[in-house]
Amino acid sequence: MAAPHWTFLLAVCVASFLTAEASKNAPVGQFFVFELQKEVYQADFNPVSKIYGQVPNDPIVFKCNKQFSPDLPGWLRYTQRHPHDNGFLYGTPMEEDRGKHIIEITVINRRTYETFEDSVIINVVGRAKLMPFQAEFFIPRREIEKVLPPSVQYDILQDVQKMWGADDLGFVNITSALDRGGRVPLPLPGYFEGVYVKLGSEAYFSKYCSGSCLVASNCVEWCRTSLIDLSSPEPPPPAPTMGSGILETGGEFDPPESPPPRDFFPDYVATVIFPFVLALILFLLLAYIMCCRREGLEKRDAMTPELQLHHHHTIIENTDELRSMAGTREGVPAPLSTLPMFNRRTGERPLPLQRTYQPDNIPLIMAQQEPNVDTLPRK
Ligand SMILES: *[C@@H]1O[C@H](CO)[C@@H](O)[C@H](O)[C@H]1NC(C)=O
Repeated sequence: MAAPHWTFLLAVCVASFLTAEASKNAPVGQFFVFELQKEVYQADFNPVSKIYGQVPNDPIVFKCNKQFSPDLPGWLRYTQRHPHDNGFLYGTPMEEDRGKHIIEITVINRRTYETFEDSVIINVVGRAKLMPFQAEFFIPRREIEKVLPPSVQYDILQDVQKMWGADDLGFVNITSALDRGGRVPLPLPGYFEGVYVKLGSEAYFSKYCSGSCLVASNCVEWCRTSLIDLSSPEPPPPAPTMGSGILETGGEFDPPESPPPRDFFPDYVATVIFPFVLALILFLLLAYIMCCRREGLEKRDAMTPELQLHHHHTIIENTDELRSMAGTREGVPAPLSTLPMFNRRTGERPLPLQRTYQPDNIPLIMAQQEPNVDTLPRK
């Protein structure tokens, strides 16, 4: 029973050994790459399964920053194409970056959302070699992650060594074309972002010819190649000439002429007076229309008492006419909807037969009847 326990302890020891801080040297002026091996961190997430040789292939992403800082140092860049690929820290340190850089790496398992911290120490040390003669090549059929692994860098070095004729070549910089204003390619096979590779040597470009490339996708585009000669150092800018520190005497101070006075009146008229006058005219116009030209009011005021009396008579005449028209509907029972449902006082419902009204008694408008009048036949 003790065996699994021991294997687990062993696994924990192995894991803690693997996550121990790695320390790397990065010489100034030389390209530096640190590959974040996904498989190693994968095993750290699953220490026991590593012993038994079955490590699941989880998606893993990395977040990198300089210790006590939110981001990486300026010279160091990070890239990872896909959570199933390795990540890379890369860049070229310069003289001012010398010293110890502690890079914190947060490893996130995107399946289980477990995380842990790791760190790598990068010591930027002095120049290992001077590379005054440099050349930059553009490799169109590559992406930055495909060029960063050491084996691919070696292949490119071999190709360039053959055409340069120097054997001390070193990488100065590797940059994605996207960082140089390149365009994101279509997501189709055969379209690549492109990579700029800068190599340097101590030797002059003795022969410079387009050689063949071992790996087709490493071939360079010749029209985008540039040679850089840093062998003669730039002369430092001339030191500023120091004066005596005392202002020279003589000559009167001539103040600069003030600009000619400007007339602001036209601006004032255009921005203040004109809109104000316009608003006033519109206000007066609206006031005149509202107060003096309301036709509806005039008509009502013009209704004399005679006219009102006439209206009243017309209404009464029309009502009488309607009543007489209703009276001619002989034999047809009144619509049920016009009849009361039951006697209000007794609650008695009229028998259907009793509903045959005399035409004269049919109330035209029920609501006008007195509430307590029995609407049943009165005969
Ligand atoms: C390397 O390339 C990057 C991106 O183009 C640039 O910012 C950096 O200055 C370059 N470094 C050197 C040493 O050329």
